[in-house]
Amino acid sequence: MLYLWIKALHIVAIVCWFAGLFYLPRLFVYHAMSDDEASKQRFQTMERKLYRGIMMPAMLASLALGIWLLVLSPSWLQQGWMHAKLTLVVLLVGYHHMCGAQVKRFARGENKRSHTFYRWFNEVPVVVLLLVVILVVVKPF
Ligand code: HEM
Repeated sequence: MLYLWIKALHIVAIVCWFAGLFYLPRLFVYHAMSDDEASKQRFQTMERKLYRGIMMPAMLASLALGIWLLVLSPSWLQQGWMHAKLTLVVLLVGYHHMCGAQVKRFARGENKRSHTFYRWFNEVPVVVLLLVVILVVVKPF
């Protein structure tokens, strides 16, 4: 029973984390296309608040609740799908930190990348989400 409550909260935290992982790079697209100071300031504030206020706490909650599930049910660690999932989670945490570094770069006015770059960058979490959900639900290996 406790396990199912933790799993429900794990899924809620992941939904919140992904809201940011999908939207922040979209803000980078618009930010990279803007050339007036007022727009740049507005995007900077939106990016900082989304990263610090939503994505950071949601990531920490997703990871903590996921680890709690493993503590309650350690035998998942013997399965291949869990190893694959955890590898993708490490990549996703890396992606999250690249987003954070980019927020700081924009804030310093040092962005060198084009809006096209961010459009592609934005697709990374889509692929990770697709793969992780298939792994945890289908448990193919
Ligand atoms: C440290 C990171 C994480 C750990 C240790 C972890 C661990 C777990 C465990 C043990 C389960 C329960 C599996 C089951 O009962 O069948 C679970 C469920 C789930 N996890 Fe994670 N998780 C982590 C991060 C993530 C991330 C980043 C995502 C999304 C990209 C994710 C998506 C899911 C989903 C959708 C379920 C529900 C599966 C179901 O309905 O049975 N997890 N996680």
